[in-house]
Amino acid sequence: MKRPGAGLRRQSPGPRFPSSSDVGDLAGKVAVVTGAAQGIGLSIARIYLCHGASVLLADLNYRAVKEAATRLGKPAARAVAWKVDVSDSSSAKSMVQAVLDQFGRVDILVNCAGIDSPMGRAWEEPDKSWRRIIDVDLNGSWWPTRHVIPHMITAGGGRIIFISSVAAREWSGTHVAYNAAKAGLIGLAVALASELEPHSILVNAVMPGPTGDTGRPLSDVERAGLESRMPLGLRGADPIAQACLYLAQPSGDWITGTVLNVSGGYVKG
Ligand SMILES: NC(=O)c1ccc[n+]([C@@H]2O[C@H](COP(=O)([O-])OP(=O)(O)OC[C@H]3O[C@@H](n4cnc5c(N)ncnc54)[C@H](O)[C@@H]3O)[C@@H](O)[C@H]2O)c1
Repeated sequence: MKRPGAGLRRQSPGPRFPSSSDVGDLAGKVAVVTGAAQGIGLSIARIYLCHGASVLLADLNYRAVKEAATRLGKPAARAVAWKVDVSDSSSAKSMVQAVLDQFGRVDILVNCAGIDSPMGRAWEEPDKSWRRIIDVDLNGSWWPTRHVIPHMITAGGGRIIFISSVAAREWSGTHVAYNAAKAGLIGLAVALASELEPHSILVNAVMPGPTGDTGRPLSDVERAGLESRMPLGLRGADPIAQACLYLAQPSGDWITGTVLNVSGGYVKG
């Protein structure tokens, strides 16, 4: 028997590079995307490039991010790779300086770098495991933000996007530090949005559901479990990148302090 909504599933062809007659909605804009070597971050970088932005692709894995930037840079020539450890404030500061040196401005920051948590009980894990998850998944979105804000204030505006998770709303079998960090990003987005409104800096969080093909590989049992509660199906990273495009381009001009649930119905509200 066919699952309800099974007919809705389709493979996304992925973003299309505009032809020479198109003008991308992000033409002239400069974005930094952390965690851009692979997965959701790579998909966001690609869609921003497709829509005309220049992008600093930043990641801890320099070899992979360099390869990604080289690959994406062929049609766009606006992609630059940078090594960053987002859990380290000084590394994040150097990344912000790098985008200014490279492109002279920064309009959009997407905090996407993150790590999965071990599946065990938090109270049975070493303290350093808790600290590492909070350092990367929560503080690792704050340090780049903290260092980019003064430049956006001087420039008269900007967009900051946090990649949270449905794990902010409900437990998903992961280490609770991950849930706490992802919920913290929502608090950060909402509070910062109020603080930065007077400077025309719009701050939002995107709350992805499981992509199915990025992050930690899923077992067959996990995949079947997810598909049974996702009538729209697992669709990879592209829907999340589309949401980040919506927030970054003029369509997002009147949106701040929101949490955009992009989870294929995995959670509601
Ligand atoms: N995969 C999912 O289903 C899913 C669901 C909800 C939320 N998310 C969130 O989306 C984001 C991206 O997830 P993904 O699935 O693409 O993961 P991924 O593991 O495929 O990619 C994460 C990237 O972040 C980089 N990274 C890790 N630690 C870093 C650090 N300290 N400094 C700089 N870069 C670092 C990695 O090298 C990697 O390239 C994460 O924040 C994740 O928590 C993912």
